[in-house]
Amino acid sequence: MKKLIFATNNAHKLSEVQALLGDAFTLVTLKQCGITEDIPETSPTLEGNALQKARYIYEKLGCDCFADDTGLEVTALGGAPGVHSARYATDGHDFEANNLLLLKNLEGVADRSARFRTVIALILDGKEYLFEGIVEGTIATSQSGTEGFGYDPLFVPSGEIITFAQMSADAKNAISHRGRAVAKLVNFLKVGS
Ligand code: IMP
Repeated sequence: MKKLIFATNNAHKLSEVQALLGDAFTLVTLKQCGITEDIPETSPTLEGNALQKARYIYEKLGCDCFADDTGLEVTALGGAPGVHSARYATDGHDFEANNLLLLKNLEGVADRSARFRTVIALILDGKEYLFEGIVEGTIATSQSGTEGFGYDPLFVPSGEIITFAQMSADAKNAISHRGRAVAKLVNFLKVGS
C-alpha cells in the first residue's frame, strides 16, 4: 500500500479524499508527520497556493505528497471569494460568517451562478503535477442542510435541486470539484506508478 502525505488537518476533507482513493493508498496527515505549524498560502492563485504547500512539505520531509486549494468563484462577484474563500468574512475559518456575507453580497442579484474549483499539486519522486476539478452551480437564497462544510449549505450543483449540505458524502464526492480533481490524481497514480 502506497503512502502519500496529504497536506491537510481538515477531517472532512481527509475522509472525502480517502474514500475516493480506496484502499490502494494510505493518506498520512500533516499531524502524523509532525508538521504542526500553519503552512504559508500567500499566492494570489489556487495553483500557486497548492504548489506552495506541497513544496513546503517536500522540502521539509522529502516524501511524496500532495496539497489542494479550493475556491468558490461567484460570477456576479467577479470570481470572489475565490482564493480568499476561507477568510472571506473574517480572519478565521468562520463558515457561518462567510455564508452570511455571501448572502448579503448577493442580495437582489439575479445571476447567482458560481463554481467550486479545486487545484491539487502533487510532488512524486521530485516531479510536480497539477490536477483541476470544477463543479458548476448556483448560490441559493438561504442555507439548507447540515452535511459537509464551508459553503455547502448555499451551493446547489447544476442539475440538482438540493445543496451539497443536503447530500450524503458519497453523493457529493461523485460530482464535487474535489472529487473530480482527486479522480484525476487517482487515475494518474494508478496509471503512472
Ligand atoms: P481549502 O483550500 O480546501 O481549505 O478551501 C478554502 C475554503 O473554501 C474553505 O475554508 C471553505 O470555506 C471553502 N471550501 C472548500 N471546499 C469546500 C467544499 O467542498 N464545500 C464547501 N466549501 C468548501
